[in-house]
Amino acid sequence: MYTMKATLFVLACLLVLFTATSPAVDSKYYSGSRTIKAPTTLRKTQLHFFLHDTISGNNPSSVLIAKPKGTVVQQGDINPFGTVYVFDDPLTEGPGMNSKVIGNARGLYASTSRGSDLTLLFNGDFEFTSGEFNGSSISVFSRDPLVVSKEVAVVGGRGKFRMAQGFILLNAVFFNATLGDAILECHVTIFH
Ligand SMILES: *[C@@H]1O[C@H](CO)[C@@H](O)[C@H](O)[C@H]1NC(C)=O
Ligand SMILES: *[C@@H]1O[C@H](CO)[C@@H](O)[C@H](O)[C@H]1NC(C)=O
Repeated sequence: MYTMKATLFVLACLLVLFTATSPAVDSKYYSGSRTIKAPTTLRKTQLHFFLHDTISGNNPSSVLIAKPKGTVVQQGDINPFGTVYVFDDPLTEGPGMNSKVIGNARGLYASTSRGSDLTLLFNGDFEFTSGEFNGSSISVFSRDPLVVSKEVAVVGGRGKFRMAQGFILLNAVFFNATLGDAILECHVTIFH
């Protein structure tokens, strides 16, 4: 009997909630922030490495896997709206191709802007294969405007980076817009 009453009460509340809300009007989407006490202490870790994304040549680390019907993908216009690439990019200590590999970024990016402001949705798991964080990874899920300097969001991680949150400041130290090949310097800040 009690649970029956409780259920009816919840249903009544929901009904009120859905019917009594005021009609939708335009308003500012932001109306303020406030400081709250974080419930735990966190570790802050900073990492620095380079990501090599190579589309050209016969051993690419990034490959086109999908595009809208009829769309032409060609040199100089490699990311028309709706194209999707899968990548397995090496992460290295330095900017050179022969620099020591310390991990790999695996995932996919999709061209998600219909306008001239070319942006990707970048979604990748960066796993480290040596040193202190061998076997641990950070998960990136973010908008990626194709500009020289930008920021992407770190939304999680595995291993020593379990529950990580943070960001990566990216700086293109090499970019060939015709081919789409890039070397990105990554400054990672994460709390975990
Ligand atoms: C990284 O971890 C893997 C799996 O545990 C191990 O096989 C490999 O030898 C380690 N590599 C380094 C450089 O520590
Ligand atoms: C980009 O690649 C094209 C084709 O190989 C080449 O002609 C051009 O010089 C390259 N540009 C840069 C900045 O490396």
